[in-house]
Amino acid sequence: MSLAAPPLPETNPLREGLEQERVPDASCLVIFGASGDLTHRKLLPALYSLAHDGLLPAGQTIVGFARPDYTDEAFRADVREACDKFARTRPVDEAIWTNFAKGLFYVRGDFNEPEAYNRLKQKLEECDRSRGTGGRRLYYLAVPPTFFPVISDFLGAEGMVTDPEKGGPYTRVIIEKPFGRDLASAKELNRVAVTTFRERQVFRIDHYLGKETVQNLLVLRFANGIFEPFWNRQYIDHVQLTVAESIGVEKRGGYFDTAGITRDIVQNHMLQLVSLIAMEPPVAFEADAIRDEKVKVIRALRTLPVDRQSEFVVRGQYDDGSVLGDKAAAYKKEVNVPADSRTETCVALKAFIDNWRWADVPFYIRAGKRLPKRVTDISIHFRPAPSPLFRRVQGVHVQQNVLAIRIQPDEGISLKFDSKVPGPTVRSAPVTMEFRYATSFGAEPPEAYERLLLETMLGDSTLFARRDEVEAAWSWLDPLLAAWGKGGDPALYHAGTWGPPEADLLLERDGRRWRRP
Ligand code: BG6
Repeated sequence: MSLAAPPLPETNPLREGLEQERVPDASCLVIFGASGDLTHRKLLPALYSLAHDGLLPAGQTIVGFARPDYTDEAFRADVREACDKFARTRPVDEAIWTNFAKGLFYVRGDFNEPEAYNRLKQKLEECDRSRGTGGRRLYYLAVPPTFFPVISDFLGAEGMVTDPEKGGPYTRVIIEKPFGRDLASAKELNRVAVTTFRERQVFRIDHYLGKETVQNLLVLRFANGIFEPFWNRQYIDHVQLTVAESIGVEKRGGYFDTAGITRDIVQNHMLQLVSLIAMEPPVAFEADAIRDEKVKVIRALRTLPVDRQSEFVVRGQYDDGSVLGDKAAAYKKEVNVPADSRTETCVALKAFIDNWRWADVPFYIRAGKRLPKRVTDISIHFRPAPSPLFRRVQGVHVQQNVLAIRIQPDEGISLKFDSKVPGPTVRSAPVTMEFRYATSFGAEPPEAYERLLLETMLGDSTLFARRDEVEAAWSWLDPLLAAWGKGGDPALYHAGTWGPPEADLLLERDGRRWRRP
């Protein structure tokens, strides 16, 4: 008997994966805040790319709702411009565009104008008749959270929300972060959301969960036999997570100054990454089974000892400097940022997950703006091998093996280990085994918003934050944020550096170093 090698795949595996997706039923997707930046840069281009890839159902309808006085035609021209500039699947294909544009409509209105909801309701009913959307509704609130209550109240009062318990066509609402700025405000937002909708109708977007590389964390951990046996405190020395951005706050100084990087990135994106890296295997590959395990991780985070901040946290703010060769001005000089701002643009913190698997394994987390480059990276640092064998061999230094998961850019995974340098003497040097998405799959992964929008149409909430996850994350950070609110200044760092030197000391004191991604 001879063993034949498995046949090579004839088609692109990424494409095959997409083809296995279910195609949802056509619905009306209403975008509140249709004239905003998020809609223009992310949502509309993502919807077009879904159409381009054949993943939108025939009849899918998109209704923009905003204040400017647009016609359907003017809205279509605006969408076209957004797709030309930002769609992953550029240049726009004329045939696909023509068909896609037929499903674009616009309703002008103020969020607190009852008449506007009437006009919207009529437009949606017209679309049900002409485009076969069957009463199915998705309401995307691409608006600041202050508008959630008024929009959801009106939708409820105008009879535009169905109750899933009673059957019939679905209504779902999609909301964007920030989900509050502390535990109390998050609870209030959640209370408002579930006054009009049931929790399973609410889709809270954390766009990190739409990234391919983030979704791959579950496959990496639970679909491979080799990693999980070592995925615990017996073998892992520590874990590092970095979300670095080279950009500053751009035009969002007003918002950012009331938030800071901890609210903007750590509370949501980074804690989602921590929970996926640290969670126990779920009992099923289903939304609630997965989210049940994720929330347990957040709940197990050790209470931060806020009276001893220097032991576990460093906050920084960028000063003048240069990033990627260009001069960059201090945060305090950014538009809409007060000259005496104390908001942190960089944070480094040491966290522990007090459960059986992770007891006493530090998770070092850092996020920052105006760092040297844009990179999101998770690294698992394994305990070194016992070294007696090589203790007296000068050229061999037993080091930690590192599994590095590059979330973005240059998406991939590498494993660092030591190897003998060829030659007559015994010397070792670190080498890496590499997996690159671009090389293995030969295609650019879809944008996070493409995947997330499709999931809302399919009604799968696996990739969305559940109410208890959001509240648990705020519960953990609240004491720290409250302490910062009372005073103290962030340490300054030059734009284009890896944060204040104290961020390095945080690890050096533990005999460790940040990985330079
Ligand atoms: C957003 C933050 O949620 O994420 C921004 O509000 C940040 O401040 C952005 O720039 C980063 O997203 P990405 O996908 O570029 O890593």
